[in-house]
Amino acid sequence: MERNSGQLKNAPIGVFDSGVGGLTVFREIMRQIPNERIIYFGDTARVPYGSKSQETVTRFSEQIVRFLKTFQVKTIVVACNTASAYALEALEEDCDVPILGVVKPGAKAAAEVTKNGRIGVIATEATIGSQIYTQYIKELNRNVTIYGKACPLFVPLVEEGLLQDPVTDEIARRYLAELIDLEIDTLILGCTHYPLIRSTLGRIMGEKVALVNPAYETALELKGMLADKGLLNQTPPALGSDQYRFFVSDKAEKFVRFANSIIKYGILSAKTVNIEEY
Ligand code: DGL
Repeated sequence: MERNSGQLKNAPIGVFDSGVGGLTVFREIMRQIPNERIIYFGDTARVPYGSKSQETVTRFSEQIVRFLKTFQVKTIVVACNTASAYALEALEEDCDVPILGVVKPGAKAAAEVTKNGRIGVIATEATIGSQIYTQYIKELNRNVTIYGKACPLFVPLVEEGLLQDPVTDEIARRYLAELIDLEIDTLILGCTHYPLIRSTLGRIMGEKVALVNPAYETALELKGMLADKGLLNQTPPALGSDQYRFFVSDKAEKFVRFANSIIKYGILSAKTVNIEEY
């Protein structure tokens, strides 16, 4: 059924990730476009995506898109770098609402920010292996060099809450040493979890290196895209209505605890769904 423009503006935005990491993207969206309703799905039963194959990540992502579409979402944000790298193209092929990944906005910002043309990307093994950041940045500027570094230990460190911790410091020093030697001036935080250890990463890289946060850039891009299409919600949802709803594929309590530790909103619950049914 065709929806009129009022219904479309009012429709929620679907946001998904492999688990809790996409909450950094959710957080930026709620800050930048506070009138929007959001349906968040975290695939907590099947996380991590970063060590899985393209085929598997694409299948998971397609199931989640089908689930989100049951809410008549007006747009979908793939709030996971790995899923954006591996599955975005396939998702775009048969999605009748606009769909946005986090990689392109991050790549665009980095291409604009760098002065010496030396950009570092830190991300999961899958995202680095896909070379997707390199591909997008090179499309914008052929004269830059991109250095990728997989940092798989950052995800469990963040999920353990070790955001300011000597262990995280030590691991970060080891991972980042080669990027410091390569004299990059821009570093893309190419994994959803990394903005949560931004201060550690910034301190180790030094103040001459600009950190690019794709979560922030994606929310900005989303805002612009909704405005261009006349789809921004102009009025805040009615009090008492569920502005933000959270769904996971496993362990809802753990998800809620983590969400409340990084988002000052008061998330009361998340519902568990059997995503394999979609
Ligand atoms: N959300 C993933 C990403 O941004 C990190 C966690 C995972 O490996 O699933 O790449």
